[in-house]
Formats: sequence, C-alpha cells, structure tokens
Amino acid sequence: MKQPKICVAGSANMDLVTSVKRMPIPGETILGTAFHTFFGGKGANQAVMAAKLGGEVTMLAKVGKDVFGKQYLENFKSYGIITDHIGQTAEHATGIAAITVEESGQNSIIVVGGANMANTPAEMDDAKAVIHSAGAAVCQLEIPLETTQRFLEIAKAGNVATIFNPAPAQPLPDEIYPLCDYFCPNESETALLTGMQVKTVAEAEKAAQTFLEKGVGAVIITLGSDGALYVSKNKTLHVPALKVKAVDTTGAGDSFLGTFAYFIADGSDVETALRNAVKASAISVQKAGAQTSYPTYEECNFGS
Ligand code: RIB
Repeated sequence: MKQPKICVAGSANMDLVTSVKRMPIPGETILGTAFHTFFGGKGANQAVMAAKLGGEVTMLAKVGKDVFGKQYLENFKSYGIITDHIGQTAEHATGIAAITVEESGQNSIIVVGGANMANTPAEMDDAKAVIHSAGAAVCQLEIPLETTQRFLEIAKAGNVATIFNPAPAQPLPDEIYPLCDYFCPNESETALLTGMQVKTVAEAEKAAQTFLEKGVGAVIITLGSDGALYVSKNKTLHVPALKVKAVDTTGAGDSFLGTFAYFIADGSDVETALRNAVKASAISVQKAGAQTSYPTYEECNFGS
C-alpha cells in the first residue's frame, strides 16, 4: 500500500506530568497523586499520530545535546519517523512541558521551548525537497514564528496542502493567513486571535468568518467536548465529539490534527478526514499521556 507522506515542522518536548485531585490556588501547596515523563510537544505529537496510522512522516525539529534529546531521537525512530532534518544543539536544553492533570482529565501546561526556539527559517529552506514531496505540511507555534511562516511559504509554493495549528496562540502577521489551506485553532486560540467570545458552536462559526476574511482556505476549530467545526466559503460542517470518559486530555488536539493530516495526505475528502480525526482524538483521551495514548489505524476502526 502507498503510504501518505506528511511533513511536520514543530516542537519536541519532554512532558513532565503531575497528577492532582485539583489545581492548587496561588500560594497553596498540595500533594500530587502521581508523576510521569512522556514524549510530547505539539509538533512531535502530531507527527507520531500520523506515523501510528501508517503515514511516512518526516519531522523538522531541534532537540538538545542532552539526555532528553538523545531519548527523543530514539523515540522518533521507534515510530519510523524520518529524522534526517532533526538537529541537536549543545546551546539549548531539549524543550520541556510542565503539565498538571486534574482528576477530571483537564490539564494545564507551561512550555519552556529551549532547543525548539533554535529552529531557523534557513533550516526550512534546507528541507525544501522533502516538504515539496509531502501530501500535507503541518506546523504549529512552539518554534519561532518566522520559521513556521517560512515552512508554510515553502509548502504553499510547492502546492502542498498546508495545515496550520496556531498553538499556543500569539498575534499573527496578516501575510500568514493566505498561506494556510486549513487554519486549525481551538476555542481559546480562536478567542485570543479574534477578540471574540467562543463558547458555543454558533460563536465559533462567527469567529471562523474572521479567518476566512483574512484569506485562509478553510477553518477548523476544535471545540473539546463539542467536537470540531469546519467552515469554508461554501461549506459548514459540525462534527460532534464521541461520548467517552476522559482520563487525560493532553495532546488530544494533536491527535486530531495528526489524523486529519494523514487523511488529507491520503487524498480523502475533508468530511472523512474530520470524522476520523474526531474518532482518534476521542480514543486518545482515554489513556494517560499524549503519544502513548494515540491509537493505531486498526485500533481506530474507522468507518464503524
Ligand atoms: O498539545 C499538548 C502538548 O503541548 C504537550 O505534549 C506539551 O509538550 C505541549 O507542547
């Protein structure tokens, strides 16, 4: 079978995850119930999800010349991800994310970018051939904005489907929007970027128009327990979430995007890609961690 090719430019973090009954309030000390380390980072998570489904995935990233960096390279290889464009720097530590997960499955995350912030636009130029050979090019905002923008410019110039997850949200230059075939924020990122309240599907639909006016091809807003909303000039589609008991929502959005990218690269229609992405992310929240919770193609039982 021909494997869909996906190229991801983004972060690789070691996730330091503490489980708690509830979040502490400022100034309070509480006892946690467990501590684990997991491989994470939005870019790497999306790459691993696409690879677990069977995609041929190339990752453009940077890790430190340290223990976490060495372990991370092994982790990428264990999923068959192509690491030719992953650099190692002695000047920065591998990125980390300090994550707290409540009993409800809800999380809060602080990322220290480290080596991720040493990814340069010139390194995206060096990867032009591999970006152009992909069926989908995926990026986020845990590496420098100018590097992400260069990646999108290269992909767009090569007619590769571009999928941009503007997370964590930050103000964006107007030029970046027309580079996005699929612009994919969650509710809070949408609120931050538009200044609009986004608590309902109707509010998300209204906010999506702002992004369309700025020139993106289509908007996909992930809405947590409300599923996902797709809005383009000619089509609006709300895919409800599946009802499952969440254990840990960390990386659920990344599982959604990695799956969406896999099916777009595979030539599926948008509706199939969206429904399958909602399904994979619903499976992912039922286990701890990000990549460790992602299902394989067979485990997803797509179409059932
Ligand atoms: O989206 C989840 C990810 O955000 C975590 O794996 C963490 O590393 C942060 O990047």
